[in-house]
Amino acid sequence: MPREKEAKRDTLTTRQGRPVTDNQNLRTIGDRGPATMENYHFLEKMSHFDREEVPERVVHARGTGAFGYFETYGKVGDEPVEKYTRAKVFSGEGKKTPLMVRFSTVAGAKDSPETERDPRGFAVKMYTEDGNWDLVGNNLKIFFIRDAMKFPDMIHAFKADPVSNVPDPTRMFDFVSRSPEATHMITFLFSPWGIPATYRHMQGSGVNTYKWVNDEGEAVLVKYHWEPKQGIRNLTQEDANYIQSRNVAHATQDLYTAIERGEYPEWELFVQIMEDGYHEELDFDPLDDTKLWPEDQFPWLPVGRMVLDENPTDFHAQIEQASFGTGVLVDGMDFSDDKMLIGRTFSYSDTQRYRVGANYLQVPVNAPKNKVRTNQHRGQLDHRNPEEGSSDPSINYEPSMIGGLEEAEEKAPQHQPTYNAAAMTKPIDRPNNYGQAGETYRNLADWEREELISNLSNVLSQCDERIQEAMVYHFSQADEEYGRLVKEGIEKKTQEMKDMQEEEMPGREAGEQSRYGKGT
Ligand code: HEM
Repeated sequence: MPREKEAKRDTLTTRQGRPVTDNQNLRTIGDRGPATMENYHFLEKMSHFDREEVPERVVHARGTGAFGYFETYGKVGDEPVEKYTRAKVFSGEGKKTPLMVRFSTVAGAKDSPETERDPRGFAVKMYTEDGNWDLVGNNLKIFFIRDAMKFPDMIHAFKADPVSNVPDPTRMFDFVSRSPEATHMITFLFSPWGIPATYRHMQGSGVNTYKWVNDEGEAVLVKYHWEPKQGIRNLTQEDANYIQSRNVAHATQDLYTAIERGEYPEWELFVQIMEDGYHEELDFDPLDDTKLWPEDQFPWLPVGRMVLDENPTDFHAQIEQASFGTGVLVDGMDFSDDKMLIGRTFSYSDTQRYRVGANYLQVPVNAPKNKVRTNQHRGQLDHRNPEEGSSDPSINYEPSMIGGLEEAEEKAPQHQPTYNAAAMTKPIDRPNNYGQAGETYRNLADWEREELISNLSNVLSQCDERIQEAMVYHFSQADEEYGRLVKEGIEKKTQEMKDMQEEEMPGREAGEQSRYGKGT
């Protein structure tokens, strides 16, 4: 950040407010030590440093974020938004709602390169007049799996070997080859769509299916999509390697500096709407997050736009501690029965209670901007605003005849889905694992398809032959040419790797460099 030369500087104090006169030297007996034990400033400084980091996110650890606003069009396409949802965030053309966004990669650790081939997280928190709404999405519109039960195994397989801590594509493709529903997502991920050029130049999507509920309590199924006004830009593997060799934080830097320059990135929000139901006319299940909803049948309808015009002032407080969840909905929105969505809704707040603490919702970036009045208090680091809570704080329970908080009046009928089916543990009956994967393959531009085959061949040539065969089978089921080209690519790469092994290791010989210790 640019600094003024003569700016007035404040005095350093301890966390107890006492001015610090020496921040360079320990208190010692004589100038060479030993150090004394009662050195309060040192002990506090060091012990706070020892606790500076909170656990990083178990997924999406590497990320950055910014603040801005959402402006509603008050309409869904040409229709009034109230036809579909009573959520106030969408009503009243031109109304602005403050928000924050966090973008991320998924598998890498907190400081990992931002050029990784990985889905990108696109999480938005809107501070609406009716409480917070989180739309926790990704850049790609679909996902690897369709049942939350598989998520912990999937992430284990995608991360480094737990014994050696070495990343190994065999692990990822071992899992994927036994999960044919991932064929579609793998097709996007290994094409250039798997490495967006920057966060500003990527789309976002809610991925899972949600519901909108109107004033009559009627619901429709809905999918959300963010479209960048800056355009979409993706990288080839070679471009990504080049950037990574020079900068491991290029996407964070790009977003931050663009906002500093006053080039505020903007996205338009679209929804796809489908009548709630089984939809037997479709060859996929509308609740299956490995599928796209075809645009010609379910058009993208604009509902508003988002502008990011403010950088964080403290990365840890505002971005690292930001906590999003799929359960964070407002009146006028509801869950669909998408099995991933339901599983996710447990996971987010559960991990945040561990990662940030029981009172993570009191951290300013997570707290709603409307008044919170709850009897859920106490716990570590409870620092509620005394002006919030109850006007009668001694009645910290509900119901009560004598005081305390009261339930809100129900202003519109609830959406009440009804069920009549046996409980079971079974996959869905319309998996159709390959149809859309083939379509996506054929829809790619020529250069994107070439990249896809080359990237898959590179990575699969490092895998066990059984895994190679299984993956070629899946790609062939999606499209005969797709499978054949990956097979040929693996054979070619395997031969190239054999030839390379015969070449010498790079590095200078001993004797050509300076010597320390024995240094032979
Ligand atoms: C982050 C779980 C699927 C998008 C996380 C976190 C967990 C998690 C535990 C870390 C949250 C935190 O520490 O604050 C799961 C589970 C899933 C699932 C159990 C499936 C059952 C998905 C899907 C998407 C997604 C399908 C895309 C729509 C994200 C994003 C973040 C995230 C964007 C980062 C949020 C942030 O920036 O703080 N997920 N996830 N996840 N997940 Fe998922």
